[in-house]
Amino acid sequence: MELSHRITGLTGGGSDGWDVYYRANDMTAAGEPVVHLTIGEHDIGTDRAILDAMHAATLEGHTGYSMFHGNTNLREAVAHRVAERTGVPTTPDNVLVVPGGQAGLFATHHAACDEGDTALFIDPFYATYPGTIRAVGAKAQSITARPERVFQPDPAEIAAKAPGAKSLLINTPNNPTGVIYTAETMASIARVCQDHDLWLISDEVYETQVWHGQHITPRALPDMARRTLVVGSMSKSHAMTGSRIGWVVGPEEAIAHMGNLSTHTTYGVAGFVQEAAVFALGRGAAFEAGIAAPFRRRRDLVLEMLEGQETVRPIPADGGMYVMLDIRATGLSGEDFANRLLDNHLVAVMPGESFGQAAAGHVRVALTVDDERLALAIGHLIELAAELAG
Ligand SMILES: Cc1ncc(COP(=O)(O)O)c(C=O)c1O
Repeated sequence: MELSHRITGLTGGGSDGWDVYYRANDMTAAGEPVVHLTIGEHDIGTDRAILDAMHAATLEGHTGYSMFHGNTNLREAVAHRVAERTGVPTTPDNVLVVPGGQAGLFATHHAACDEGDTALFIDPFYATYPGTIRAVGAKAQSITARPERVFQPDPAEIAAKAPGAKSLLINTPNNPTGVIYTAETMASIARVCQDHDLWLISDEVYETQVWHGQHITPRALPDMARRTLVVGSMSKSHAMTGSRIGWVVGPEEAIAHMGNLSTHTTYGVAGFVQEAAVFALGRGAAFEAGIAAPFRRRRDLVLEMLEGQETVRPIPADGGMYVMLDIRATGLSGEDFANRLLDNHLVAVMPGESFGQAAAGHVRVALTVDDERLALAIGHLIELAAELAG
């Protein structure tokens, strides 16, 4: 039987850029002591108190169907948080609860784009972006953010591709680069969206991990709330990756329609997870800062280790769980370098090419192991780069 082009074409064909990751997993399964600095999974599990709240919620009976849009107490908690942190008036009607940020990315693109429409996104990009856009039947069109501009997108390049497009997807703090878009970048992105009548889809799943500069949500910029759909998640901020819990914040009409999408796709998020999310949000900013703290410390550790040599040049991460390293001085591609590092030193990092062509010749290091093992792994990485650069 023939399958739809939409499903068979979802990954875009060819290598999905995750070969090093899969190989590292196979090596671990074969008993080799690989250090995994690949995916954005915390080295701590979900906090015990959150799990206790989830358990209690199951015993209290939150095990049946839940509200498709999300339960009122969680939508209220998210609305309150967003209004307080951004200053933008936000009610539960502006909030859709979704099973994780990824579901939010799908829902927002579904809301913004019809079949065949063009959806813009920035390269380097989080690995699922083009596939998510293709999954809703839209055309994925990338805009390059260049290393020479420290991966800040160039508004002129966005404006050049904007005519006829329906949406622009941005991500700040950014995965994979760790860059936070400046106030100037954000203002010009907002202008392009207004000039070309684009929906702005703002992926803010790293909003609680900010080391330098300020995270600006475009929804708070003048006249942007009506065209901005913010994707939020508790995966990174609360170490709840497996619970699959996040939200979309946007104009009431868009949220109502996306609620209908939930009815016809996910049928809502587990009630006991929503109760645990309300509990977790109630723990406030200090709890979130505690979850984020190891990434900042490890980011500083990596940057310190890279001082005094020229071969591996870091993009100094402003936020997030990763550090992007420019290894072009070795003469290898990010993928070849990552493969060598895995084979020679049992250290797994992501090739920059996994995140698009703009990050070619780079590797992304996830700061997701304890400081000691991270330091050893970075030591090996520096050693290999120096060897290759001769
Ligand atoms: C930039 C970005 N957006 C969205 C997600 C999806 O997160 P989740 O679906 O776990 O909320 C991730 C996960 O790594 C990410 O890095």
